[in-house]
Amino acid sequence: MIIARNEEQLMALSKEIIKDYKVDCRLLAIDLSESNAPEKVFNWCNENSFDVNILVNNAGYGLSGNFLNYDIASYQNMMQVNMTTPLSLILKFIPTLKKHPKAYILNIASAAAYQAVPGLSIYAATKSFVFSMSRGIRYELRETPISVTVVNPGATDTNFANRADIKSDKAIRAAEKLNMDASVVAKMAVEGMYAGKAEVVTGFINKLGAFLTVILPKSILEKGAGSLYGV
Ligand SMILES: NC(=O)c1ccc[n+]([C@@H]2O[C@H](COP(=O)([O-])OP(=O)(O)OC[C@H]3O[C@@H](n4cnc5c(N)ncnc54)[C@H](OP(=O)(O)O)[C@@H]3O)[C@@H](O)[C@H]2O)c1
Repeated sequence: MIIARNEEQLMALSKEIIKDYKVDCRLLAIDLSESNAPEKVFNWCNENSFDVNILVNNAGYGLSGNFLNYDIASYQNMMQVNMTTPLSLILKFIPTLKKHPKAYILNIASAAAYQAVPGLSIYAATKSFVFSMSRGIRYELRETPISVTVVNPGATDTNFANRADIKSDKAIRAAEKLNMDASVVAKMAVEGMYAGKAEVVTGFINKLGAFLTVILPKSILEKGAGSLYGV
């Protein structure tokens, strides 16, 4: 099952998946920022007797620039999509997942989860939430059949920068140099999930970046990010 807002894009993707992988692929066009969306997703699965054994929380977006550029409604929308909806889906689907001999939750956080990121401050905070939640509930679910994996990708070639309205030339140039292919990132995420990994950092550069967040002073990391995003 695939879920997002844009029905046309979902239909095109669903056709591609059915053709290329000879599997069924159903879709639900829904806005995951709506507070009753998780319930609608859950009911849709039940009505169609979908026996869910993998839950992927991938939908998410950022808001870039000076944090004062956005009002609380904009932040609430992002926090709902990035944090509240994934948590709500997890709570709803745990009983279904537990019925399987093996089940998986795959949460997409970000390399931004490891540090404060001036210029993407509130987005980075939502991803720290996803990261910390994922590691915490993984431990709490250790005696169950459910394995929780969190993926922290770095720059990936998707519509992310566009939707986050990243305008800094420095950030755009850095992303152009470092961008990973989305299919490579997705493969790493799924392989990590099936291998039962707690955490997946995609690619050598992002692993190095994650290591630097451990050894460098926070003030240096924040100055670097602020300069990259032009704040
Ligand atoms: N690209 C990067 O550099 C990068 C790096 C680290 C982490 N990430 C994370 O990776 C995940 C995937 O993002 P992406 O890079 O693939 O960006 P993207 O190309 O913008 O894709 C975002 C996906 O989320 C869906 N989505 C967004 N808002 C939604 C809403 N309100 N309701 C339902 N679906 C919604 C979008 O579909 P619709 O627009 O049709 O709704 C789309 O399928 C996100 O969680 C992002 O934070 C991305």
